[in-house]
Amino acid sequence: VDLSAYDPFSPEVLRDPYPWYRALREQAPCHYVKKRGVWVISRYEDVVACARNVAVFSSTGGVSLHWEQRPMMPMYDPPQHTRLRRLVSKPFQPNAVAERSALIEKKVDELVTRAIEARSFDLVNDVAVPLSLSVIADLIGVEESRRNDLRRWSLGVVEDLAGGLDKEGRLRVEDLRKEFVTFLRELVAERRDHPNAQATDVISIILSAADDDKLNEKETLAFCVLLLVAGFETTVNAIANGALAFAETPGEWAKLKNDPTLVKTMSDESIRYDGPVQSFFRNALVDTSVAGVPIRKGGKLQLLFASANRDEKKYVAADTFKIDRKPAELLDQVGYGVGIHYCLGAPLARAQLTALWGALARRTKGFQIDGEVVRSYNVLFRGARNLPIRVEPA
Ligand code: HEM
Repeated sequence: VDLSAYDPFSPEVLRDPYPWYRALREQAPCHYVKKRGVWVISRYEDVVACARNVAVFSSTGGVSLHWEQRPMMPMYDPPQHTRLRRLVSKPFQPNAVAERSALIEKKVDELVTRAIEARSFDLVNDVAVPLSLSVIADLIGVEESRRNDLRRWSLGVVEDLAGGLDKEGRLRVEDLRKEFVTFLRELVAERRDHPNAQATDVISIILSAADDDKLNEKETLAFCVLLLVAGFETTVNAIANGALAFAETPGEWAKLKNDPTLVKTMSDESIRYDGPVQSFFRNALVDTSVAGVPIRKGGKLQLLFASANRDEKKYVAADTFKIDRKPAELLDQVGYGVGIHYCLGAPLARAQLTALWGALARRTKGFQIDGEVVRSYNVLFRGARNLPIRVEPA
């Protein structure tokens, strides 16, 4: 591949970015893309070092190329980030996740039962979307009848985050965002007027905090918008990417069938191998350098988590999906990020992946792709919109 043609936004690159990532790691680990004004960072050690060095590589000013600053924690550095994270972390603590895991198991069981009865179904739309949507809707406290709206709003927010839309597109996603925020504002007002001490949704928890410093309304709304995009699309895409990895790699499914306890490692390996979050951006606060290449203050950097996870200096057979890697080998994979912005929802995402892959391994002999797969990709996210499969019951 010819790196002078590399553009992180081009559909040709995004369709299969991994050969590009390899060339970047080998030839230009800190590569400037003039057309976009972005430094692309591709090696494991550099991605981790930049993500950890928040005093130099700031998230304030945008973690995507075009997104304006919003009152959301991925877009802040300490101390604002520390405050926001502290105030929203309660529903993500292990005891709260354990409670939600029981609901996740139940939902998976229901969806997989229906899917097996149908034999042929769409893994994305019939399983991953309803599963992940139920988790996020439950977290935000959105009733059943509004869940289709959540799906619509989420697609809009994702498009907005990725950027690169024309004027018409921007107006369309802006309308969707406004619709979502109006809905949330009403939800917040209702929770405020009718508090329920037992409620486990994030809005109730945020509102009931005794902290004087608790989130204001704008921050609460922004956090809910964030949850929808950070938590919903990512998990759907993780499920799709995992299925495609199995389909591409003969032998791995049999390993999982023979030993379902591999499901945890398998889930992390699928995030390492083809992660739903490919990259996030940072902003250089001072003159600095990465991989020996000087970067001026104000420089915009793209941290390629998905390339770091394929770094052959870090992983043996980095380009192979191998579900029986040693768990320790995957502990520091960076598909969920690294450092202070490490994914808040990682335990919830893992709970969904392990429940689903565990159920499919136990209850089916296996699956085959059964129709046209429609991949979805943008500069930040990678997954699929359609993934028709056929399962054979065990
Ligand atoms: C497989 C699914 C998921 C993947 C691969 C993923 C990936 C990531 C990554 C890479 C980051 C770091 C962003 C950065 O460094 O700028 C992040 C942050 C975050 N994620 Fe996830 N995520 C997933 C699921 C979820 C879920 C289910 C939730 C919530 C329910 C969630 C909530 C968040 C939040 C709130 C942050 C911001 C944390 C901060 O800035 O301190 N994510 N995620």
